[in-house]
Amino acid sequence: MLSSLALLAGLVCSSSALAGPAPAPADGKNALMKNALIADLMSRMTLDEKIGQLRLISIGEDMPQPQLLKEIAAGRVGGTFNSVRRQDNRPMQDAAVKQSRLKIPIFFAYDVVHGHRTIFPISLGLASSWDMETVEQSARISAIEASADSLDVTFAPMLDISRDPRWGRTSEGFGEDPYLVSLCARASVKGLQGTSPANADSVMAVIKHFALYGAVEGGRDYNTVDMSPIRMYQDYLPPYRAGIEAGAGGVMIALNSINGVPATSNRWLLRDLLRKDWGFKGITVSDHGAIDELPLHGVAKDGREAARLAIQAGVDMSMHDSAYLAYLPGLVKSGEVSMRDIDGAVREVLGAKYDMGLFQDPYRRIGAAEQDPPDVDAESRLHRAAARAAGRKSLVLLENRGKTLPLKKAGTVAVIGPLADAPVDIMGSWSAAGKSQQSVTLLQGMRDAAGDKARVVYARGANVTDDAGVVGYLNFMNWDKPEIVQDQRSPGDMIAEAVEAARSADVIVVAVGESRGMSHEASSRTSLSLPGSQETLLKALRTTGKPLVVVLMNGRPLDLNWAKENADALLETWYAGTEGGHAIADVLFGDYNPAGKLPISFPRSIGQIPTYYNHPRIGRPFVPGKPANYTSQYFEEPNGPLYPFGYGLSYTDFSVSGLTLSSRTLPRNGRIDASVTVKNTGQRDGETVVQLYLQDVAASVVRPVKELKDFRKIMLRAGEERVVHFTIDEEKLKFFNAALEYVVEPGDFNVQVGLDSEAVQEGSFTLR
Ligand code: BGC
Repeated sequence: MLSSLALLAGLVCSSSALAGPAPAPADGKNALMKNALIADLMSRMTLDEKIGQLRLISIGEDMPQPQLLKEIAAGRVGGTFNSVRRQDNRPMQDAAVKQSRLKIPIFFAYDVVHGHRTIFPISLGLASSWDMETVEQSARISAIEASADSLDVTFAPMLDISRDPRWGRTSEGFGEDPYLVSLCARASVKGLQGTSPANADSVMAVIKHFALYGAVEGGRDYNTVDMSPIRMYQDYLPPYRAGIEAGAGGVMIALNSINGVPATSNRWLLRDLLRKDWGFKGITVSDHGAIDELPLHGVAKDGREAARLAIQAGVDMSMHDSAYLAYLPGLVKSGEVSMRDIDGAVREVLGAKYDMGLFQDPYRRIGAAEQDPPDVDAESRLHRAAARAAGRKSLVLLENRGKTLPLKKAGTVAVIGPLADAPVDIMGSWSAAGKSQQSVTLLQGMRDAAGDKARVVYARGANVTDDAGVVGYLNFMNWDKPEIVQDQRSPGDMIAEAVEAARSADVIVVAVGESRGMSHEASSRTSLSLPGSQETLLKALRTTGKPLVVVLMNGRPLDLNWAKENADALLETWYAGTEGGHAIADVLFGDYNPAGKLPISFPRSIGQIPTYYNHPRIGRPFVPGKPANYTSQYFEEPNGPLYPFGYGLSYTDFSVSGLTLSSRTLPRNGRIDASVTVKNTGQRDGETVVQLYLQDVAASVVRPVKELKDFRKIMLRAGEERVVHFTIDEEKLKFFNAALEYVVEPGDFNVQVGLDSEAVQEGSFTLR
């Protein structure tokens, strides 16, 4: 029974209907009630019940449901994940609030990374929109759908800066830039949690992976991270902090070590930085099995020591680990772990449940059985229009020779390629609640758009890979229903069929890239080339002389040298989601004018990595167009990226001119207005992203060559021009100095404004 205190506060586990307005988490009176409820519960919990709250169980993998129900009823589970139906989660909540001694609700979590039932473009695609409303809206819809399936928590957004495209999880993040990723962090957390994580249609955001997971050495997943403090503070930490400032209720701890200490046992990271310096109040959750892995890192001699290190470092909940349950009771009894450490973690877990509104109503998102959707995958539950709108915004036009695009809805279009009709791949990874039967493939999208105006012919042309070992690797998780199904014909036969189809057509649209599993967790690559015979397919299609439109589907920058030189048009579509095929067809046929910009640089070759645009200055820089020995360059190929950060074309043209600064000096605490005139010089209305970069000319530490500090996405009608203004103040000039103080130093600054990070107008000012 809950105590009279909880009953008086109205925080009873009662109603089974979806609740109305929920309390805002923890301010004023609400904070008092929260603290009182938690203190009361904790005064009555046994040590075993407390340790139970720290366990996050993976359904299916960790234990079968009958056993799980018993564990929950015994008060030995804090939350579960991987179960996405109300009818499956309801009995578990019943076991918690009707059978367990203290009736503490459990929570239900899932990886809702870029959509739930409706799949939105992968995060890299969402970031390409440079449109924070779109990022927020897709997160909001994800939360609405996930909460309607009884989920309280999502392990998202993924805020790891990634500058090494070998890393397969590049696809899950928002790119390479601290500023853009931080904005996406805020927008996602806001969208997921709505006005409060307690709302019935919100889910609590657990940002991940804290910290620096994107910087694993060599881009090899789970590898170690070794990074200077300045780089950490300046580039890699800001997005996590932005997510926390936006109110994220949880933080997932990264699997990697940081400068010699695994994040999972890293006291400095979890206590000093996260809690003390940043003031984070919420739960920390280990990543899958990470506590059990501490002996493998070589910092714990066994599971017992791992449990001690993790709890002392500040890991509140253990995900899919055995160590907390097995060893914490003994560690507390022997005095090696203090009750204070256990209580601190339990308080956070109970606090998070309070903030999710679960003490007020544990069935807040489960609802009543009569209201269960008869079919969780029902078409009526999808948000297709929003997914199509987000899909269109996520596409980046890389090349468009001789205005090949947009295509006319006439004649014959040959739709070719291993990804042209790939309903699983177009969803991207981490989209397990999405149904591939509901995805619109490129082929379907082209047919729908062409209607009876144009004829669409199709040939697969190639498998994504011809390597049986790679197919086996990617299918290892899916034994019952392999995800990669190979066409058994030889590459030669498939290419011959494709060439024949192309010959019968007026234009070729060929979809190439990676199957989604290639851009996923544990999917690091040693090459960025198009796998298998896909480039051979492109070359064979080129010989037909027909206009060649290459549509890319991939979750990381690829080596596009051949396509850049030889394709007539090149469209980066990432994995565009449930409505991907419609979104891409909208762009190919010109029903939508693309405006996406790259959130990550595309290298020319894998040897150039890392290629991020905002790299630190050096003493012997290479100057394009002025080759010289003894400068920093690779001598066998052109230097600089193939496509720079911020780049992307439109069906119209834009000019940027007349960078004007309102003053050449910026007084302390003052502001400068920087403006440019942007003109749509083409024939069509269109949107573009005007970008502001700053460079600190001389500072106490080496600073980047430039840094994105602001941008505006604007729509201009054909022929229209507009003056776009940016405000520059001290906040935009701050950086971490050698003592890791966030400072601004007087001196000269260069200003760059343009439509990508390279083609810019320049000016300068002095901070007094
Ligand atoms: C991933 C996390 C994910 C977790 C639960 C782990 O393997 O690293 O990002 O949230 O699994 O599915």
